[in-house]
Amino acid sequence: MSFDQSRTPLFEAVKYHVQRNAVPLQIPGHKHGNGLEEYKEFVGENVLRMDLNQTRGIDIIWDPTSVIVEAEKLLAKTFQASSAYFLINGTTSGVQTMIMSTCKPGDQIILPRNAHKSIFNALILSGANPVYVLPEINDALGIVLGITEDNLRIALEENSTAKAVMAINPSYYGVTSNLKSIVKTAHHSGMPVLVDEAHGTHMHFHDYFPLSAMEAGADISAVSLHKTGGSMTQSSALLIGDSSIDPNYVKQVLNLAYTTSPSYILLCSLDVARKQLATRGRQILDQLLELLEWSREEINKIDGLFAPDKVFFEESGNFSFDETKLLINVRKIGLTGYEVEEMLVRDYNILIELADMYNILAITGLGERKEYLEALINALTDIARHAVRRKIKKIETVQFNPEIVMQPRDAFYSPKISIPLEHCAGEISGEMIMVYPPGIPLVSMGEVITPEIIQYVQMLKQEKCTLQGTSDPFVNFVMVLDR
Ligand SMILES: Cc1ncc(COP(=O)(O)O)c(C=O)c1O
Repeated sequence: MSFDQSRTPLFEAVKYHVQRNAVPLQIPGHKHGNGLEEYKEFVGENVLRMDLNQTRGIDIIWDPTSVIVEAEKLLAKTFQASSAYFLINGTTSGVQTMIMSTCKPGDQIILPRNAHKSIFNALILSGANPVYVLPEINDALGIVLGITEDNLRIALEENSTAKAVMAINPSYYGVTSNLKSIVKTAHHSGMPVLVDEAHGTHMHFHDYFPLSAMEAGADISAVSLHKTGGSMTQSSALLIGDSSIDPNYVKQVLNLAYTTSPSYILLCSLDVARKQLATRGRQILDQLLELLEWSREEINKIDGLFAPDKVFFEESGNFSFDETKLLINVRKIGLTGYEVEEMLVRDYNILIELADMYNILAITGLGERKEYLEALINALTDIARHAVRRKIKKIETVQFNPEIVMQPRDAFYSPKISIPLEHCAGEISGEMIMVYPPGIPLVSMGEVITPEIIQYVQMLKQEKCTLQGTSDPFVNFVMVLDR
């Protein structure tokens, strides 16, 4: 087949079908949106005409033979992967598939403790047992970084029968570990490397960024094209590198939970996003990086704010940074990140990705506009000028690593009771407690809740930050194992 990246085989087939205007005596029942007029009026008729289900000539995602095969091959080629699969349940489904493809129930997997909740959930689904590697911390910024090769090596030596190593590239905050050396170390121990690249799709398309998983020689990676690759929300991809992992087995695992009615609207957006990345990705990212260099310079001129760049992180030796994540430390203006986020939304109509005690994080992307960044810079100038500059108490940045007394799957299936948060010390957690975003559990199922975790959760509640994972949305009560 030709690897002409300017083609979009799936999108072309769907467009052709829409133009044929065939009589739709099949599902979906809205029939080109006739049965959903109010929605059609807002989103437009084409979206509803593209909403197909197992239509002749368009190929089937779980057993493709024509245009989806072609589109996935183009996707693989773009990312220098040996094969690729479209996902329409986000990178969450990619993470599940990677773990279930390499670990059977009871197998160990080595992973960073600052993993996303999708990984913790995948442990329950797969029955794999985690061996956590603690990430490093940058206390000045108050953020968690990546893992070091030395810490990984210790984990490998102590757990030589583990079946896989998981890495995050980059973290929600944009920090990357030295993935190439992680891959080398894990492969030396005979273990495949699975990479959560939910926030790193674009990194493959410009050499200024840290290496992508496929460039670093990883075995398999899940990329959220919908986050930073330009496609629509929920659409991601699974990439298999030059690896001993069998793509057919991966496909079998993927199909365990793949819907039989995937959205062609999402799938087509992947096809078009891949074309754009392959044909114009570098050029778009060049412009974005230039815009970001200017933005950081402007932000760093504002007294009390600090927007670190790649060099800042690389000076530590172990880590690098994806500069499309515009991380801004606000502690010195005497406001918490949560307070600045609230002001940005309330007073300036600006939405950012996340906030923590000391930072805000704006995520920039392929569709960036200078005026968006100007609006942020102007708002921050205003906020910093009027800030009372009270002293923000510095709390030591921690990555909790609670004792695991029961494996995640066993804890999930154990009887639980709900008790007040303040009585939870020493109990085994029956659910996750996390700030979302970034969605990294402070405590997960089967882990012991410590007084420090309770104190930290109480502090977060006081700061009115969004906590998730617990059955009680206010986290006054927590489900613990009924012992
Ligand atoms: C680090 C990380 N991994 C995985 C995911 C899951 O990705 P998705 O939302 O595409 O399912 C997220 C989502 O935010 C994430 O932040």
